[in-house]
Amino acid sequence: MSETHFGFEKVDDKEKAQRVKGVFDSVASRYDLMNDLMSAGMHRLWKAYTVQVADVRPGDKVLDIAAGTGDLTAAFAKKAGPTGQVVHTDINAAMLGVGRDRMLDEGLALPTVVCDAEKLPFRDGHFDLVSVAFGLRNMTHKDRALAEMARVLRPGGRLLVLEFSKVAEPLRRPYDWYSFNILPRLGKWIAGDADSYRYLAESIRMHPDQETLKGMMKAAGFGHVDVHNLTGGVTALHVGIKC
Ligand SMILES: C[S@@+](CC[C@H](N)C(=O)[O-])C[C@H]1O[C@@H](n2cnc3c(N)ncnc32)[C@H](O)[C@@H]1O
Repeated sequence: MSETHFGFEKVDDKEKAQRVKGVFDSVASRYDLMNDLMSAGMHRLWKAYTVQVADVRPGDKVLDIAAGTGDLTAAFAKKAGPTGQVVHTDINAAMLGVGRDRMLDEGLALPTVVCDAEKLPFRDGHFDLVSVAFGLRNMTHKDRALAEMARVLRPGGRLLVLEFSKVAEPLRRPYDWYSFNILPRLGKWIAGDADSYRYLAESIRMHPDQETLKGMMKAAGFGHVDVHNLTGGVTALHVGIKC
């Protein structure tokens, strides 16, 4: 038996995926509203920056992993155009369903695939760009997931990891206070679920910091990795090139 973390709690690594599924099953219908409220809309800016850095061109093949309700997926699809291929994936069908319905309402019909990032059902070297936003933190074996992301990228292809990260020291105390006092209350009030938002705050603290994640990406086959700190390190965008 090997152990991992679910937030601050130590759990058997076979249990983590099920616990994470419980979180996203519970919050799926209120996920987008909660994102806007708890980040005061900032997640839109972080994602807009990610889309700019991604620089998707017409005809590109893009895989969005842990794509959830699909706001990045939709933005990539608009850039890739009708000659491109953008695949909307997540391990959680409830999250994907919310995203698929919203994209259909916007006139975007994309392939939607329920799959585990640790065992991607795509062939080697197929994609020009792989993106994972706020998803890696929830994965049990991050090293396996990163290796899979490298496998499905073509040589020279890029992986974009947008994730909560380690904040700059002057922000740490107010950020901790907000995370452990306000977030769970907001979760209870809006999504009827304080525990999932307590898990969010805890999982952010357990996630590898900027330098550690950069090292993990290098170990997974990304020869060059750039780190872009956003909002004082509240989030970071790691951009890895498969060499
Ligand atoms: C916080 S949401 C992020 C959704 C979206 N990318 C965004 O930025 O709003 C995290 C997502 O990661 C997904 N996830 C967790 N573990 C996963 C795994 N092993 N493989 C694929 N997706 C996973 C969850 O189901 C959830 O939809």
